[in-house]
Amino acid sequence: MTKPAITIGVFDSGVGGLTVLRELAARIPHANYLYFGDTARLPYGSKSAETVARYAVGAAHFLHQQGADLLVIACNTATALALPQIRAALPIPVEGVIEPGADAAAAASSAQQVVVVATQATVASHAYRRELEARGCAAHEKACPLLVPLVEEGWTDHNVTRQVAQIYLDEAFAGAFAAADVLLLGCTHYPLLRPLLRSITPKSVTIVDSAESTAKAVAAHLAQSANCPPQPAPAHQQEAALQAAERAPSPLLQFYATDSAEKFKALGSRFLGYAIAHVEHVDLKE
Ligand code: DGL
Repeated sequence: MTKPAITIGVFDSGVGGLTVLRELAARIPHANYLYFGDTARLPYGSKSAETVARYAVGAAHFLHQQGADLLVIACNTATALALPQIRAALPIPVEGVIEPGADAAAAASSAQQVVVVATQATVASHAYRRELEARGCAAHEKACPLLVPLVEEGWTDHNVTRQVAQIYLDEAFAGAFAAADVLLLGCTHYPLLRPLLRSITPKSVTIVDSAESTAKAVAAHLAQSANCPPQPAPAHQQEAALQAAERAPSPLLQFYATDSAEKFKALGSRFLGYAIAHVEHVDLKE
């Protein structure tokens, strides 16, 4: 008898976490996915730890009630500020993006010096620095608050974004961190800027993306627990599977948003790379 597919809940403050969903679906194509974007209350990156924890725990409960067997906190800010609270509140495994990102960055750094770019709240929490130091790396965390709105504006290859990113990176790769050899993307939106960041970062610097690292960690975790052994499909098949799931509404891929479903569809499609057909609006009562 075949086991029912695992259902993976993916939580983010908005559409940015779709970069994590993309990576997960590419590595674990036969899982069911429930994606929750708290679009009515974003951005999380400028909010207090207490507020983010309250919002994130509420959303995590919702995904568990919808049938998630495993929860991935795609939002770097929510992971940085609320992972212990979310884990304590739920009876299912919860994976955040910071430990996998720190693992991959530490493994990639010969200089043992990593520059982390993230939201203001993630940087203020020093969650990445703690995890990197625990892995023997020094970390320079740099808040880049202008990058999220620029990505949401669709300016992923725009001169203004290039100039802004250049200023941030010049400030980040300075002083004691001039020789840092890893740039860790610690925000859901930054994978969309990867080509631009690559073009303005020295070739000697490896770019590590926490979305990709997290998907690899979740796939490894599932393989270990043998719930859902990952059988990575070729990229074109993964994409086709996602698109097919989206065309034929099925439990395979379900989207929830706390603000307008239409806005989520329009913006989310850019993060996911293809049209999102159906989004359910949810109103989380506090
Ligand atoms: N999802 C957030 C993160 O990865 C970025 C957007 C926000 O500030 O809500 O940190």
